[in-house]
Amino acid sequence: MAVHGFDLGGRVAIVTGGSRGLGRSIVMGLAQAGADLVIASRKLDNCKAVAEEVETTTGRQALPVACHVGHWDDLEELVDAAYGRFGKADVLVNNAGMSPLYPDLLSVTEELYDKVFAVNLKGPFRLSVLVGTRMVEQGGGSIVSLSSIGSLRPYGGIVPYAAAKAGLNAMTVGLADAFGPTVRVNCVVPGSFATDVVQHWDEATKRGAAERPALKRIGEPDEIVGAVLYFASDASSYTTGALLRVDGGAV
Ligand SMILES: NC(=O)c1ccc[n+]([C@@H]2O[C@H](COP(=O)([O-])OP(=O)(O)OC[C@H]3O[C@@H](n4cnc5c(N)ncnc54)[C@H](OP(=O)(O)O)[C@@H]3O)[C@@H](O)[C@H]2O)c1
Repeated sequence: MAVHGFDLGGRVAIVTGGSRGLGRSIVMGLAQAGADLVIASRKLDNCKAVAEEVETTTGRQALPVACHVGHWDDLEELVDAAYGRFGKADVLVNNAGMSPLYPDLLSVTEELYDKVFAVNLKGPFRLSVLVGTRMVEQGGGSIVSLSSIGSLRPYGGIVPYAAAKAGLNAMTVGLADAFGPTVRVNCVVPGSFATDVVQHWDEATKRGAAERPALKRIGEPDEIVGAVLYFASDASSYTTGALLRVDGGAV
C-alpha cells in the first residue's frame, strides 16, 4: 500500500495563495498526483493562468477563484464556488500568507498587525472550520496549513507574523482534535524558500538564510511539495495534529 498512498486520483483540493510561490508548486504537485484543483488568491488573472497550466499539463480540472482570505465573506464564496463546481473537497491547503517588513516595532501599526493576523491566522481558522465541517459530513478529508519556522524561532523583525503562525500551529492541534477521527489536520513548517518574499530581503538576511541550515542553502518552491502531498494523501493516514519542519535543517 505505501507507494500507492500518495495517489490523489478522484480527489479535490482547495489551495489558497495557489497563484505563485509555494502555493503554485503545491497546486502543480497535487494535480500531478491526480487531484482536481480550486486555486484561490486575490488576483483572479494569476489564478486563471495557473488553472490553465494545470489543465494543459496534467489534464486535471482547475477552478480559479478570487478571494481575500482575511475576509470571511470571501471565504464563504470560495467554499460555495468549490462545492458548486466539484460537489466536495477532500483537501484544503491554507497556504496564503504574508510577512511584511517593518523598520522597528514601534512602526507596526494596528492596521498592519490586524492584516498580518487576518491573512495568516483568522482566515485559515474560518476556512478550515467551513471546509472541515463539510469534510466531517462527507466522511473524510485532510487540512494542511503552511506555518513558518519563525513560529518556532521568532526574532525581532517578524514578531506579529511569528505570533500569527504560532497561532496556526496551535490551531492545527486544536482542529485535529475537533475534526477527528474523520478529518486530519496537519501543518508544514517551512524555513526559507526562494519565492517573491525573498526579493524584499537585504543581502545580510539572504546570506543568513542560506548559511544557517544544515543543507547550506534556501529551498526551491518545488521542495515543499513532498511534505504537503504526504499530509494531503492517505500516505499520512495515521498522522494528525502534526507539525513537520521543512527547513533544510535550520538550527
Ligand atoms: N517563502 C518562504 O521563505 C516562506 C517561509 C516560511 C513560511 N512561508 C509561508 O508559506 C506560504 C507561502 O509563502 P510564499 O513565499 O509562497 O508567498 P508568496 O510568494 O508571497 O505568495 C503568496 C500567495 O498568497 C496569495 N495571497 C497573499 N495575500 C493573500 C490574501 N490576503 N488572500 C488570498 N491570497 C493571498 C498571493 O496571491 P495574490 O497576490 O494574488 O493574493 C500568492 O498566491 C505563506 O503562508 C508563508 O507565510 C514562506
